[in-house]
Amino acid sequence: MGAGDPVGRMTAVIQGLGTSVPAQVVTNDDLARTLDTSDAWIRSRTGIVQRHVAEPGVATSDLAVEAGAAALKSADNPEVDAVVLATMTPDRPCPATAPTVATRLGLASGMAFDVNAACSGFVYGLAVAGGLVSSGVAERALLVGADVMTRVVDPADRNTAVLFGDGAGAVVIGRGNEGDDGAIGPFDLGGNGELGDLLHIPAGGSRRPADEDTVAERDHFLRMDGKEVYRQAVAGMVVSCARLLAAAGLDIDDVDHLVAHQANARILAAVGDRLGLAEQRRVCNVDRYGNTTAASIPLALADLHRQGVRPGARILLTAFGAGLSWGSVLVRWPDLGRP
Ligand code: UT7
Repeated sequence: MGAGDPVGRMTAVIQGLGTSVPAQVVTNDDLARTLDTSDAWIRSRTGIVQRHVAEPGVATSDLAVEAGAAALKSADNPEVDAVVLATMTPDRPCPATAPTVATRLGLASGMAFDVNAACSGFVYGLAVAGGLVSSGVAERALLVGADVMTRVVDPADRNTAVLFGDGAGAVVIGRGNEGDDGAIGPFDLGGNGELGDLLHIPAGGSRRPADEDTVAERDHFLRMDGKEVYRQAVAGMVVSCARLLAAAGLDIDDVDHLVAHQANARILAAVGDRLGLAEQRRVCNVDRYGNTTAASIPLALADLHRQGVRPGARILLTAFGAGLSWGSVLVRWPDLGRP
């Protein structure tokens, strides 16, 4: 911002970015050895070629700590007094996983809590962590999106087992002004609980606690009506992005890059086409990671960083998932130094 420019309103800005994925890679052919599926089906219907899968015993906090440490390092290890973890696969049902992450990162004394908005978790987390910072409740926040989806996906269900992977991504959020590099907002967030059964885990909560029957019926695993979620996801992300751009007084041509939740390459293509955004402005890495739920957007942001996006570029993030929940937000690309 130059001399004479109006000083923007106080807002939250991204100051660091880090990611972590497990070393183990599982290809489509690997899955086809035990499932009635094929590399050709998975590639053509989803665009997924491989996914990273956590070794037994590795939990969400393990990936979250690695991504969080990398994000803190990229921001020159500032003091952080809030840790927000977006996840639908916490280490345990209770307590929240964020305090474990904070303690292991040496940030134990600040607030730490989880946000569960499934695949929209990172966008919701930006609103929550950004709100803590811009309102002055926290000085600086670490937002981590992390999921070990392979723990809640039924390995015997070809409708879901081929879609998901494990990973984590994190950003450091500090205070700045609207228009600054890294500035977050405005947002469009929404949900529809009437359609919650389209994508859910039937048992293990207070409605239907886990017992021998729920395990025998495999009701502790994720169930999805893929076709309907697909339809809802495309329509939901397009409407959310259009509403956000209209509210911000912007056109799709004002957007430099679209970072949409990475669930399926066909969904990404449909959303980009309907929004009228040129293909080279869309980020797609679902081929390498599959759907990593709350980690999907920060993993895509890291890819964009590696491609050398210019600071100040206008990035449109959009996500859709279980709840149903959706959210979109504009971000000015932060100056993160060389990738
Ligand atoms: O992040 C939000 C959460 N998730 C999503 O956004 C995912 C949304 N949904 C999707 O990505 C897609 O709907 C899927 C990839 C899940 C499925 O693609 P589709 O084009 O909608 O396929 P379909 O459900 O129409 O299934 C076509 C056929 C079916 O066989 P029949 O009934 O036509 O004989 C399925 O049984 O493909 C069959 N099928 C498979 N075949 C081989 C389903 N899964 C597989 C598989 N391998 N893994």
